[in-house]
Amino acid sequence: AIIEVSAIEILDSRGNPTIKTIIKTEDGAIGKAEIPSGASTGSKEALELRDNDPQRYNGKGVLQAVSNVNDRIADEIIGMDVLEQAEIDNLLIELDGTENKSNLGANAILSVSMACAKAAARELNIPLYRYIGGLNAKTLPIPMLNVINGGVHADNNIDFQEYMIVPVGAQNFASAMQMASETFQMLKKLLKADGHSTGVGDEGGFAPNLKSNEEPLQYLVDAIEKAGYTPGEDIDIALDLAASEFYKDGYYYVSNNKISNTELIDLLGEFIEKYPIFSIEDPIAEDDLEGWSKITEELGEHIMIVGDDVFVTNEKIFSEGIEKGIANAILIKLNQIGTLTETLNVINLAQENGYNYVISHRSGETKDTFIADLAVATNSGFIKSGSVDRGERIAKYNRLLEIEQELKSNAIYPTW
Ligand code: PGA
Ligand code: ZN
Repeated sequence: AIIEVSAIEILDSRGNPTIKTIIKTEDGAIGKAEIPSGASTGSKEALELRDNDPQRYNGKGVLQAVSNVNDRIADEIIGMDVLEQAEIDNLLIELDGTENKSNLGANAILSVSMACAKAAARELNIPLYRYIGGLNAKTLPIPMLNVINGGVHADNNIDFQEYMIVPVGAQNFASAMQMASETFQMLKKLLKADGHSTGVGDEGGFAPNLKSNEEPLQYLVDAIEKAGYTPGEDIDIALDLAASEFYKDGYYYVSNNKISNTELIDLLGEFIEKYPIFSIEDPIAEDDLEGWSKITEELGEHIMIVGDDVFVTNEKIFSEGIEKGIANAILIKLNQIGTLTETLNVINLAQENGYNYVISHRSGETKDTFIADLAVATNSGFIKSGSVDRGERIAKYNRLLEIEQELKSNAIYPTW
């Protein structure tokens, strides 16, 4: 049974406050969870509770969320069996009592939900991926590594948020990381040689000022080739446009032009013809559902189209999206919804409807590696954890390297 629940305020990778919760059980098991935070958030995400006290951290403090865990939540769950994840999560949802977890805060609730899962795995003395996924958990995800950052994640002139390299042709996860790292180092050389900045953005990708939204694609193809790999065979490219960020009153503002969703889709269609792009996330803004149906119909057979801001890991919103024929894949972020149980339900829905799903970090992260285990537990096939640098990004990839070793010859690296 749970005997202690305690939360504190810590800092995330952007230096903003976030919450950490520690749960202890009678048997001496301990589970710790640290909660990430997004910048290009979907408007329907569960609420991240902040103090809004201008005297502390520009209003970003999370002391209220911390005390919600230490007082209100602790009172209710002390004495419960930590193995009863669904029961605990349902109790947290009920205790909060709102649709978007605005009462206790999704950050407070998720920290407890994740810490319980980790404590439960400790109590059973098994790895977290095994606890969540059972004996079927043996597929490593293909990493989608965000090596050029734009949008709100970097102070440059690139509109699209993420340019990713995806080692689809690797033999295993370890060689995928080697391929990615070598390509990343080559990209750095190429950018440097052209006089571009090699400083990095929030997710560890380079953040150069380039001429257009297309130029990063040329750099990626170049870097892949010069690192000794074949674009489109060994390594593919993926994009996250985070299009809600440059959408206003029915138009998309790209490269200082105002364009319609049809024009944006045509542009992406051209990119797909010219470059080995296998996936595009949030190519369309969350409010432009007509655009979403259109792009899914036009490009959905050729590439993976991933809904992030449009689905916000929410079962109800996702099932409405499925009905409308929106996207063919979903991004999974625990803190968009706020409990492990609800997250697993969304993944189930994706599986039942033939949608791919990508387990994802946030742009503000911590060293917590929960999502690495979650990716293996759910046989997701894909993970997004940023670039091949910055400790908080690498921590997840390193955890996956460890899991691959642990699974030995049982480990599977997917083919795409
Ligand atoms: P965010 O970005 O964490 O800032 O929302 C990640 C993403 O859009 O996938
Ligand atoms: Zn996204």
